Formats: sequence, structure tokens, C-alpha cells
Amino acid sequence: MKLWPRTLLWRSVLLIAALLVVAHLAWLQIFRTSEIEPRALQVAQQLVSVVNLTRAALITAEPGRRFALLDELAQREGIQVYAGDPTEAVPALPDRPFLRIMQARLRRDLGSQTRLTLEREGVSGVWVSFRIDREEFWVSVPRSRIERNAPLRWIGWGALVLVLAVISAFLVVARINRPLRELTRAAEQLGRGTTPPRVNEEGPVEIRTLAQAFNQMAADIQRQDEERALLLAGVSHDLRTPLARIRLALEMLDDHGNADLKTGVVQDIADIDSAIGQFLDFARPVDAETLATDSDLDTLVQSVVARYTRHGRDVRYAPASLPPLLLRAQAMQRLLTNLIDNALRHGSATVEILAGRRAQSIWLEVLDRGPGIPDADAQRMLQPFTRLDSARSTSGTGLGLAIVERIARLHGGSVQLLPRDGGGLRARIELPVAG
Ligand SMILES: Nc1ncnc2c1ncn2[C@@H]1O[C@H](COP(=O)(O)OP(=O)(O)O)[C@@H](O)[C@H]1O
Ligand SMILES: [Mg+2]
Repeated sequence: MKLWPRTLLWRSVLLIAALLVVAHLAWLQIFRTSEIEPRALQVAQQLVSVVNLTRAALITAEPGRRFALLDELAQREGIQVYAGDPTEAVPALPDRPFLRIMQARLRRDLGSQTRLTLEREGVSGVWVSFRIDREEFWVSVPRSRIERNAPLRWIGWGALVLVLAVISAFLVVARINRPLRELTRAAEQLGRGTTPPRVNEEGPVEIRTLAQAFNQMAADIQRQDEERALLLAGVSHDLRTPLARIRLALEMLDDHGNADLKTGVVQDIADIDSAIGQFLDFARPVDAETLATDSDLDTLVQSVVARYTRHGRDVRYAPASLPPLLLRAQAMQRLLTNLIDNALRHGSATVEILAGRRAQSIWLEVLDRGPGIPDADAQRMLQPFTRLDSARSTSGTGLGLAIVERIARLHGGSVQLLPRDGGGLRARIELPVAG
């Protein structure tokens, strides 16, 4: 349903408002039904008095003074008295509980031949008949005597109550919602791999407990991150230093005619070294580097590409005019290097890089003409330590694409491994422009 709002805030406000309307209406109904009988009896009582007094006055007055008396009644009390005829027909009484109760009481007190109508000879009013001997008379009082005064005022008060209720419902719900929003924002940051600021531990117990649990969780994650980074930094240092010494020693050694063996060992050492580098990159807390505003991604790509061409690699990039972005420059370089290394190692000798912008995002693609990655495996390859079976023979850690994915996510972006037209892999990064 379109009208049903999506946010908790408006849903709750709407529910509370609906509840109040229903309660208000029910209350009004109870009030009306319980108020009808006493009011009808009260009005009937007044009419009985009017009739009895008029009748007594008519009976006791001298015949010559009756007209003057009726005149006075009409002017002073708004009571009109007319002579009628017992056979005369008058419009039937509308079937309303109020009038039914009134009529019953009038008949009880004034006699069973008492008639009650709201219109006689075309004149509207509350008409009650009475008899003196055989003659019938009619007494008429203004209809306002039986009408409830100003129902509009009731509606006005009801509307005011409702508006106040909705406003207070809004304030109450908004109060609960504020910490929830804060928590949501923090959880999103945590999901992106950054460390959110502590959320306020205030408000009602449930919210406070949730905030405390969240803060605890965020702190735990951060501590684990730090410990992991520390551990890996230590390990890599303890491995890299002896490794460098071995390579140095190896280069000084005479190969005794086993040049191939020596080259192989040197290559192995280089592989181990780069694997350690990957472990380090993967373990590095991703948000350690601060965001540089207005980074120029175009220049950044060019400088990375230049480094490859200097080493005689065929990496091509046609500069694109990209808008300035909020970037972590080192992380972005690491992302690019991983994609280009993959393209060179698993793909082909020639690597192309393309970039462009769309309405809300920019995209960057690293393309090669290698075997590519089957669609079914693409998502899995973004997980750490996953490699295709065909890659078993080559060295590598299976961390590269996981690092790429993490860095893209840290920037609010995403990675896709797509088949390239004509064969090869099309690794595509999308980054949002705002943020
Ligand atoms: N450009 C590419 N062409 C073909 N396969 C690739 C390409 N890039 C990555 N892959 C596959 O994805 C796997 C995971 O890549 P990655 O995470 O970088 O680990 P590694 O490069 O250390 O093997 C690789 O082992 C390889 O099988
Ligand atoms: Mg790799």
C-alpha cells in the first residue's frame, strides 16, 4: 500500500493517531447514548410544567381575560398556545430514541391522549397537546429547547485533542527514533569497515542496553583488528628481515654452474616476500589512512600506470576527466596495483584501464585478454584465500581481490568481475561521487 509509510517514526505516529481517533469516537458514542435519556427526561419535565401551568392558567382565568393571558405567555416565555381539534392530523414523530423517551414521559404525566409533534400547520416547533374538557389545545415552544447546543463546538474540541495527541505521539516516537537512527548510522559505518564514534548510551533501558551492546561490539572489533594488525606486522617483520638476509647471501654466493637453481630460489624468495606483503595489506586496519578531500583519481591512476611502464610492462590508460573524490590515496593505489598485477599474472601481457563517470558515481575498469573468471566463481573470488583451480600452479595468496573489495567498500563502492567482450576479464570498480 502506497499510503503506508516506510519509516518506523511515521508508522508509529500513524498507528497512535488511528488508535486515538477510534478511542475518541468510541468515547463520543458512549457519551451520546448515556446522555440521551437524562436529557430527554429533563426536557419532558420542563414541557410537563409548561403544559400544567398553561392549563391551570386557562382554566382559572375569566373567559374574557384568556386572550390577554395567552398573549402575555407568548411574549414573556416564548410559549404559544393555540386551540386545536382532537380529530386534526399532525405529522408523525420522527423515530428517534430521544423523542420516544420524551413522548413516553409526557404521556405518563399528562395523560395518554397527549400528542407530540415537531410541526403543526406548517410551523416548526415542539408541539404538545393537552385537553380541557373536550377541547384540545396545543402548546408550542421553540425547537432549540430540545436541540443539543453547538455540536460544532464538540467537534472543534475533538479535533484539538486529536492534533495535540498526534503532536505528542510524534515527539514521543521521535525521541525513541533518534538513538535508533544514530545506531543505524554507526552500524553502517561498521559494516563498511570503518570505526564509528561511540553512540550515546542514553534514553530508556532497552535503547541504552542496545547502545551499550553496540559500543561493546564495535570496541571488540576494533581491538581485534588492532591485535591482528600487530600480530601480522610482527610476523612479517620477523620473516622479512631474515628473508632479505638470505637473498643478499644468495646473490653473493657462487652458483657452481647451477644458475637455474639459484634463479628459482631467488624467485621463490620474491614470491614469499610478495605474499607477506599481501598478508600485511590484508591485515592493515582499512581506515588507518584518513580521507583526502578532492583527490584527483585521474592523476593517481596515471602515476600507478607510469610505475608499470617504467618496468617495461604494457599497461595503458587513456586519461579521463573525473570529478574530485573523497579518497584514501594509498588504499586506492593498492587497489589498482592488485587489479593490474592480477591482469598481468593471470591475464595477458597487455592491460587496459578505462574510466568514466555517471550521474552519481565514477567507474574504473581494468581489462585483460586472459582466461577471465567464470560468472559462477566471480563472487567467491572476492573472498580472502580463494583462488581458481587453474591458479594452483602459480604463486599467490588469494588475498588480492579481497583487498580490492575491502578498499572499494571502504569508499562506499563495489567491485564486479565481468567477462570482457572478446575474452578476458573486466574488473569493474564503482565509487559514489558524493561521500
Ligand atoms: N585478471 C584475471 N584473469 C583471470 N583470473 C583472475 C584474474 N584476477 C584474478 N583471477 C583469479 O582470481 C583468483 C583470486 O585472485 P586474487 O584474490 O588476486 O589472488 P591471487 O592473485 O593471489 O591468486 C586468482 O587466483 C585467479 O584464479
Ligand atoms: Mg592477485
